[in-house]
Amino acid sequence: MCGIMGYVGPRDAAPILVDGLRRLEYRGYDSAGVAVCDGRSLVVRKAEGKLSRLADMLDADPIGGSAGIGHTRWATHGAPSDHNAHPHTDPSGEIAVVHNGIIENFIALKEELGAAGAVFASETDSEVLAHLVAQEYDGDLLEATRRAVARAKGAYALVVTSSREPGRIVAVRMISPLVVGLGDGEVFLASDIPAILHRTRDIMVVDNGEIVDVTVDGARLQTIDGRAVERDLLQITWDAAQAERGGHPHFMLKEIHEQPQAVTETLTGRLLDGDEVLLEEVHFPPGFARSLDRIWITACGTALHAGLVAKEVFEGLLRVPVEVAYAHELRYRDPLITPGSLTVAISQSGETADTLAAAYLAKERGSRLLAVTNVVGSTLSRTADDLLYTRAGPEIAVASTKAYMTMLVGEYLLALALGRERGALDSAAAAHLVAGLRTLPRVIEEALGREDEVRVLAEGFAGHEDAYFIGRGLDYAVAMEGSLKMKEISYLHSEAMPAGELKHGTLALVTEGTPVVVVLTQTATYDKTISALQEVKARHALTIALAYDDDTEIAKHADRVIRIPRVPDLLAPVPSIVPLQLLAYYVAAARGHDIDQPRNLAKSVTVE
Ligand code: F6R
Repeated sequence: MCGIMGYVGPRDAAPILVDGLRRLEYRGYDSAGVAVCDGRSLVVRKAEGKLSRLADMLDADPIGGSAGIGHTRWATHGAPSDHNAHPHTDPSGEIAVVHNGIIENFIALKEELGAAGAVFASETDSEVLAHLVAQEYDGDLLEATRRAVARAKGAYALVVTSSREPGRIVAVRMISPLVVGLGDGEVFLASDIPAILHRTRDIMVVDNGEIVDVTVDGARLQTIDGRAVERDLLQITWDAAQAERGGHPHFMLKEIHEQPQAVTETLTGRLLDGDEVLLEEVHFPPGFARSLDRIWITACGTALHAGLVAKEVFEGLLRVPVEVAYAHELRYRDPLITPGSLTVAISQSGETADTLAAAYLAKERGSRLLAVTNVVGSTLSRTADDLLYTRAGPEIAVASTKAYMTMLVGEYLLALALGRERGALDSAAAAHLVAGLRTLPRVIEEALGREDEVRVLAEGFAGHEDAYFIGRGLDYAVAMEGSLKMKEISYLHSEAMPAGELKHGTLALVTEGTPVVVVLTQTATYDKTISALQEVKARHALTIALAYDDDTEIAKHADRVIRIPRVPDLLAPVPSIVPLQLLAYYVAAARGHDIDQPRNLAKSVTVE
């Protein structure tokens, strides 16, 4: 996730671009840049670090010109640096691009362009687009861009400008968001409405597979294959704070709703045809996966809960023992981590002090270290031998939602890769899993479609002071995360445990009306978990079951049922967590809490 901007009009472009980028910094902030056409040539300024560095550069040495493009970056390919910052240009410096998203076939394109003599200035996937547009250019930027994107595969948004046609900008949307703002004699382009809402409230949303040709006379929209598109303008009435949160009252709710898009990005370019998976920064030595004798998973908090899902998935598919350890415990143990093992450290930020310490320990003991993380260039990613970036984009709410979701999806990808290399997963089983993974963005969308039902349920929940979440196997892992979400933002006392454990003590706390959420997606243990539900029901608890749409039994047992779309049991944690995130959110909202910044907590825990 990055932020992109464009401007054509009568005013100086650079300050407008920087101002818009500042409002898009929530999409990434590891480097920033602009390219402005001064009428004769393109002037590019870019710098690693926060946008303020670029702004200082431009203050010290301003650039004139009334058309330009800008970018604030969240690194995916290539670490944050001056040379990886956007805009990228072709070798002549006449064409500049900014890009948000991923070009799946960039390696093949780089090889092809390299064979024709192209030299690249960055490690990004984006730079190939500048070369492609230049190669296709014969005097018409729109047509050159159209032909260039026909050669690129992926999920992205792209904005292109050229000194050969000053005052013209072309932009394309391939899944990643893009909007056009129409002002009085000026046109704005942006990844998101908040960047330009203070400039104009007349917004045209570019749809997937569309290209837009922008000049000072307006914006012409077409499908990528050239059919003209008429699009009604939206009149946006949000205030500035609402706009920043995409119209949602809190970042947490916005991020819950971003999960289908985030998962699309996690999967982009990684699922190949049939049963193959490509993890671009995982390079196990030959024979490693086959000889692997143990996997250690270490993390904290929500990331640890993602690790509990991984344990079930890895043990089930790879038939290898998996140990999940809290990083703050592992670092002070004398763990039997041996060479030949794999340690998977999971961390959204890649900066959690305990997780880093456990990762260093694992490396010292000769284990291969794989990081599942969201932040490119984080300390964890620089320490690891192998990397799986989750690509959730910046997460602002302290309570993690989309980062957790993309960790889950990353783990399935890893299981596939290891399973194929290890010979533990035959082609048919892998193909089945690949097919399931492809459905996940839609499945999450469907789960989000039940938001109103969860909101009503939350009203009945908000007056309680205690809650319990139970489940077995993968359902237990989900119960742990659902319970943590509830605690951290609603401040309700909540406990999660394996469904069979309740009767060994905690059942004493269940009294009339105590809410007990029972996660019931695992066919193999369904009947056993129903028994646990009956046990709490017998103590007059308020039983809330989370079950598949096609479960016709459950309504006979539970007081309330939260429904999720049917998926293979192995993938159930993905839809299951969505209503539990929403439940925690609406309980906290009903209790009037500061949802995005809950008391006593911090987004990244960089101290012991
Ligand atoms: C809870 C939450 C925390 C983090 C934990 C680890 O919503 O976000 O429990 O998961 O502090 O953080 P990372 O993943 O950055 O290592």
